[in-house]
Amino acid sequence: MKIINHITDIQDELKTVRFKNKTIAFVPTMGNLHQGHLELIKQAGQLADIVVVSIFVNPGQFGPAEDYDSYPRTLQQDIDSMQAYQVDFVFAPDSREIYPEGNLNSTKVSNVDLSSLHCGQSRPIFFTGVATVVAKLFNIILPDVAVFGQKDFQQLTIIRQMVNDLNYPIKIHGVATIREKDGLAMSSRNAYLSPSDRKTAAHIYQILSQLKQRIELGEVNFDQLQMDAGKMLSNNGFDVDYVHIVASDTLLPPIHASNGLVILLAAFLNGTRLIDNIILE
Ligand code: PAJ
Repeated sequence: MKIINHITDIQDELKTVRFKNKTIAFVPTMGNLHQGHLELIKQAGQLADIVVVSIFVNPGQFGPAEDYDSYPRTLQQDIDSMQAYQVDFVFAPDSREIYPEGNLNSTKVSNVDLSSLHCGQSRPIFFTGVATVVAKLFNIILPDVAVFGQKDFQQLTIIRQMVNDLNYPIKIHGVATIREKDGLAMSSRNAYLSPSDRKTAAHIYQILSQLKQRIELGEVNFDQLQMDAGKMLSNNGFDVDYVHIVASDTLLPPIHASNGLVILLAAFLNGTRLIDNIILE
């Protein structure tokens, strides 16, 4: 496993890889790796000859009042946890390497339809920040396949759309959400929760599962279902951001109630924002 900090160095390494006709799988992350990230890395190893993992806490996707400064940076621990997997290159640039002028790009990649929905309502710059840095990383790494988690369903949808719209010759591979034993989706931000909030957080997946079951049993009044879920969350001490039942391809209210749905949810627990979703095939 080679740890590389500079763009020109990773480009040189990967030129050699491509010259040998080897394929490249890429896993972009912000580090502080947990079992969810490691599952992406594992699957990446099955998709191509060479695995590249990036670790970069991207300032471009954090709002001014968000946790950019306090976001956990645990590079050595991350390197240790990747030893058990096939990782050929770790690309860990600093913020000047990606944004040389110290300011963020003035050229941005933005999905005008999807970026303002759902999480975009309370995080207006988030998805443009994500799409822009992922576009930059794709241009640096030039992977054959890139791996993303379904945990961030809206992010995955926006990346798929970007690759489609901008003709990136990159296959996007989505990985099912990895959960703790009690159902809580693994996330670096779970570490912000107090022990009692950590217990409460398990309600999110229980509520999503209940909603899924009610839809599968034939309920079609999605407004009612969304409201019920919101009430259950509030009763358990969450500040609800949103619960939206939408079509899994467009992320818009579904035209047909029967299939291809996803329930997207975001809620705060004492200031920590948690997101999750459940897919209905
Ligand atoms: P980060 O939050 O570090 O997540 C990196 C990747 O891991 C994302 O594709 C995310 O969906 C996936 N992931 C996180 N938790 C997961 C879980 N419990 N199960 C499965 N996959 C999980 O997402 C980002 O970083 C950034 O926005 C990034 C794409 C790197 C751009 O900066």
